[in-house]
Amino acid sequence: MNTASHGLQATALTPELRARFDKEVAKYPADQKQSAVMSCLSIVQQVAGYVSAGDERMVAEYLDMPLMAVHEVTTFYNMFNQTPVGKFKLNVCTNLPCQLRDGSKALKHLERKLGIAMGETTSDGMFTLQQSECLGACADSPVMLVNDRAMCSHMSNEKLDQLIDGLQASEATS
Ligand code: FES
Repeated sequence: MNTASHGLQATALTPELRARFDKEVAKYPADQKQSAVMSCLSIVQQVAGYVSAGDERMVAEYLDMPLMAVHEVTTFYNMFNQTPVGKFKLNVCTNLPCQLRDGSKALKHLERKLGIAMGETTSDGMFTLQQSECLGACADSPVMLVNDRAMCSHMSNEKLDQLIDGLQASEATS
């Protein structure tokens, strides 16, 4: 549904998309519809895979709020992608407590295994590797999130290999 891959072009505000936004806004008092900003941005990301600058503008206009306020939300939260990402987005926590317990080692291992640097996407579009802020599971380090939802703990190199190999295999058979 996204009309372009980058920049100012926005996901079309179709009647279906508007209906989904309306449903989120209806959860809040009429004078507080801006409270639905995260939900609306999440819906855009579900549809388009990421939130472009144009999408931020579209959501800001829909919610009647300053564009900068929407931009602050998309840039503050790790889960919002501002550029296209791979099919599997891997966020490894490298905050200090995790760094002290092999978080950086896990990131390096993934960089080697996938042949990309942190922040990059594999050429087949399968994996994007990113750092993440504290995921609230410091005692389970190394920890990572897959696609902003699945939390993986105690990620030794062996477990990382199993994870990547498993995701690749699931794609090959789907
Ligand atoms: S510092 Fe990594 S989960 Fe808390």
